[in-house]
Amino acid sequence: MQRITRAIVRQPGKNFADGITTSNLGIPSFELALQQHHAYCDAIRKCGVEVTVLEADERFPDGCFVEDTAVITKEVAIITKPGDIARLGEESRIAEILSEFKKVETILLPGNLDGGDILRVDNHFYIGMSHRTNQEGAKQLSEILSKYGYTSSQIPVKTVLHLKTGITYIGNNNYVSIDEFADLFKSSNVIKLDKDENYSANCLLINDNLLIPKGFSKSKNEIVKLGYKIIEVEMSEFRKMDGGLTCLSLLF
Ligand code: GLY
Repeated sequence: MQRITRAIVRQPGKNFADGITTSNLGIPSFELALQQHHAYCDAIRKCGVEVTVLEADERFPDGCFVEDTAVITKEVAIITKPGDIARLGEESRIAEILSEFKKVETILLPGNLDGGDILRVDNHFYIGMSHRTNQEGAKQLSEILSKYGYTSSQIPVKTVLHLKTGITYIGNNNYVSIDEFADLFKSSNVIKLDKDENYSANCLLINDNLLIPKGFSKSKNEIVKLGYKIIEVEMSEFRKMDGGLTCLSLLF
């Protein structure tokens, strides 16, 4: 797997709690979210990655979830059109920054696509067909990826916000998954989570380390058995806004 050298993140804004959520876990604390965001950036730095921290943009309460605004490969940054109207426009600043590092291509309306729906496994991209990603968005992404030699296929998403809310690939043919997606990857090693630990399906592999959310001991024990170097990150405030570890960064 390609070594990650850079990350782009955006700080949560003071109106972070006005973002979109279905979690029913209460109102997040801005101060605590900011502390957790700092700790998240430090965890990424520990993996040998240079982190560019963008200032919050209070036009977009969900703007810290930068993953949804781009899909990045070695050759190209594909700028998305986030699938909730309140988030459309978050991608503009990200496009500016990414154009300093990469060739840029863009998903065009009526295509919608959130980066949280894109699960990369080596040179294949699974596209989650959630409420945020439509057929036109998936078709455009697939066409762009194919120009660079990548393949793609679609997976329906029914019970969670994004595909990667429910499954992540952690390298070496290992996945962490909720029930909904576990059977799709039968020929691989899938850690199938207990329902009460479903949030921990969203893990983030960076170089030799695996970031996992703090507080999910059963998942942690299963992952540790596979020999990963783990960094636990407290995510309570982002969880309240339906956000996970992958949502908070763009890595390349
Ligand atoms: N709050 C993250 C999202 O709904 O996109």
